[in-house]
Amino acid sequence: MGNVITRPTWFLADASFDWLYPERIQRMSGRHWTPLSIARKAAAFLAEEGKKVLDIGSGVGKFTLIGAHYNPRTFFYGVEQRSELHHYALAAQEYTRTENAAFFNLNFTQVNLAAYDHFYFYNAFFENLDVNDRIDHNIEYSDSLYQYYTRYLFRELNKKPAGTRLVTFHSLEDEIPPGYELKEASADFMLKMWVKR
Ligand SMILES: C[S@@+](CC[C@H](N)C(=O)[O-])C[C@H]1O[C@@H](n2cnc3c(N)ncnc32)[C@H](O)[C@@H]1O
Repeated sequence: MGNVITRPTWFLADASFDWLYPERIQRMSGRHWTPLSIARKAAAFLAEEGKKVLDIGSGVGKFTLIGAHYNPRTFFYGVEQRSELHHYALAAQEYTRTENAAFFNLNFTQVNLAAYDHFYFYNAFFENLDVNDRIDHNIEYSDSLYQYYTRYLFRELNKKPAGTRLVTFHSLEDEIPPGYELKEASADFMLKMWVKR
């Protein structure tokens, strides 16, 4: 039998994508990482040729890598505070040979948000309010940290120019300035797509 060339199936289903990660990370997927169908929809809304999309709190890179795969002319970035998750994002990027993506292991407050065009936000700061289902117990959680991050992001989004796109998933909407207009939402209203006026 000759060489059998199979096309990688990572980007076709959640289960196959999650195989890029260790079992412990796979088990967190349903609760903490964006489902593939949502990531595709969100990324399609944010993608624009030559522009930069930033995932604020990128975890193991699921949204960023799916976005980059399906939108090869847009650059997708992810910023993640936890070094372990950042490491898994880099490993998955290498494995999938995704070129139009990059990851930073930083708190999002250390990133110059002015340098990015459009943003994805999957309720990253909620872990400060939610005592159940935390990713780990290695960082400090507090209500005041939720307030601080939320206000910080609100101010930064408020400074962005008209036309800036934002997608939120499971957001409490505290971080969204009034200038952002809701353009589309999923039937359950968990996924929302906004454009700044
Ligand atoms: C709900 S997960 C979403 C992961 C990823 N965006 C996705 O959709 O697959 C939120 C992530 O935000 C990260 N995070 C929370 N606060 C952060 C902060 N201040 N700076 C950077 N990352 C943060 C958490 O560590 C977690 O990995």
